[in-house]
Amino acid sequence: MASQLRLRDLLASLANSDCDFVVIGSSALVLQGWDVVPSDLDLFVPSDEVDGIRQLLEVGEHQAVWVRDGEARRVEVETDRGPVDLYLDVSGDLTYERVERDAVAVMIGADELSVKVGSLAHVRDMRAAVGRPPVPADAVRPAEKGGAPRVVAIDGPAGAGKSTVTRSVARSLGFTYLDTGAMYRSVTLVVLEQRADPDDHARIGEIADSTEIDFDGERVLIGHRDVTSLIRSAEVTKATPHIAAYPEVRAAMVKRQRQLFSQGGYVAEGRDTGTVVAPDAPLKIYLTATPEERARRRSLETHELLADVLAAIEERDRLDSVRELSALKPAKDAVVLDTTGRSIDEVVEEIVKLARDRGIV
Ligand code: DC
Repeated sequence: MASQLRLRDLLASLANSDCDFVVIGSSALVLQGWDVVPSDLDLFVPSDEVDGIRQLLEVGEHQAVWVRDGEARRVEVETDRGPVDLYLDVSGDLTYERVERDAVAVMIGADELSVKVGSLAHVRDMRAAVGRPPVPADAVRPAEKGGAPRVVAIDGPAGAGKSTVTRSVARSLGFTYLDTGAMYRSVTLVVLEQRADPDDHARIGEIADSTEIDFDGERVLIGHRDVTSLIRSAEVTKATPHIAAYPEVRAAMVKRQRQLFSQGGYVAEGRDTGTVVAPDAPLKIYLTATPEERARRRSLETHELLADVLAAIEERDRLDSVRELSALKPAKDAVVLDTTGRSIDEVVEEIVKLARDRGIV
């Protein structure tokens, strides 16, 4: 009686099958007598990756390889018949929506390796049978799409109340707050400090790649240097839209944001979080307010002249919306909230309720 999962054989047979996707669900293992820890593991693998995985499998009986954003990662699955290592590539063009629509579930048998093909609904039923939510908490989502389990994306123009609202939502949900604007500001600060030529794409890209941005609560750090106030200077604020428009800069920031999001539990504010960075985020909010209201709030905060603030806001809106890459706009499935005349508490409450209704917390 075989007591091991012969993944090599499994994947070999998958390579010859015509399924679009492979879903390997731990609940399938549980239902068939395996004691799986961590129990909430599901991996979605596009079928065109299977052949590559199969080749990687040639190195050993029980291994597959999962490469994410160029990073190999091992997923250890403990079974009562010994450990199984899964290393799988999920970097394909795969979204939960596509899996919902087209996936084929593959179950791994108990005594002998057996492959059964069913539907995703079947996997969901099996999950329900063992008391699990329909979508696994630590399901691996495709890196390329910036899939983001347990991420609330809050986008919108400057002055819509994003920072206050996002911080407060993060606190209410017990999630980590991420200020993506601070990341673009940090790169701009380094560009200005190094007096780099703002037209030198390659140099600006290098700076974006090499700037180590970290967050420590409310503090923003570059390396170990606290730049929290420096990145809010008028000079940095003015130069950031130009630097943020560089594709090299956006690619570096988006990659970093996706790495953070992959851990889950984030409420992030930005301009393209719901459209580009995490299009699979289960809750996307587009926060807005009239330019006059936004200028009024900003000038109360900074004591600058209302007319000057209004002109600056309109100019930044224009730059952020006309840029080709990641232009400021609501995601198709975003909830658009106009905060004009509404209190922060009211808006926060509405977002927290949406997050709870969608089962994010
Ligand atoms: O939100 P903020 O004012 O700190 O943003 C600073 C600048 O960075 C602003 O011009 C827009 C830009 N930005 C961006 O392009 N993409 C983001 N995700 C966040 C900010």
